[in-house]
Amino acid sequence: MRLSVNIDHFATLREARKSKVPEPVLAALLAEQAGASGIVCHIRGDRRHIRERDLRLLRQSIKTKLNIEMAATEEMKKIALDIIPDTVSLVPEEEHEITTQGGLDVIKNKERMAPHIRSLQQKRIKVSIFVDPSEEQIKTCAELNVDLIEINTGRYADLEAGAERNKAEKEIANAAKTAHKLGLEVHAGHGLDYWNIRPIAAIQEIKEFSIGFAIIARSSIVGIEKAVKDMLHLLE
Ligand code: PXP
Repeated sequence: MRLSVNIDHFATLREARKSKVPEPVLAALLAEQAGASGIVCHIRGDRRHIRERDLRLLRQSIKTKLNIEMAATEEMKKIALDIIPDTVSLVPEEEHEITTQGGLDVIKNKERMAPHIRSLQQKRIKVSIFVDPSEEQIKTCAELNVDLIEINTGRYADLEAGAERNKAEKEIANAAKTAHKLGLEVHAGHGLDYWNIRPIAAIQEIKEFSIGFAIIARSSIVGIEKAVKDMLHLLE
């Protein structure tokens, strides 16, 4: 069971003040030291958090795997072919969304995506697709010969514990089984936190989790005591 840490929101904080801190690359190195198997970040069209400079520094410095989430556009493909991350995760992207809304509709976009995927794979970049837990979508991912899929756990994560959430959990488990049978490596992520992770972590076919917001939110809280003490020390 592997954990990849999404560091986007360290960059969100940095961009809130157009500052040099917190440095997302440093956060990535510390996440690796703590045992993360990989670092994930999402470069968006509006560059609201991660920028090209971050990608270049991450590529040069991290020792685990670099997974860049991006839309399947020509602009983003150019960036991927320049950086050569270990993995590109193709995600849908809307201009004003707060975070990624749902998986990519690969059935609708199949023809457009096939050459896009191939040109990344030709440079030995693994291609992942962020997809809803739907059998039809997953079958199409297999037909597109992607290397892996990331099942969208966002809907599950938005639900309160109860019958609806149990149903969403089963959909994720079934989707993971389908993907595994089709020979795809299975990852999962979006909205996973310290309260809802357990049932999803118990799904054997899921080999890796991509988690960002919950970890960064907790790190800001568990670090506050030390941050205040460090400042008091300087004031003394
Ligand atoms: N996977 C994908 C495809 C995402 O877009 C995101 C959010 O950037 C995540 C996983 C991580 O989600 P969260 O920040 O809610 O843990």
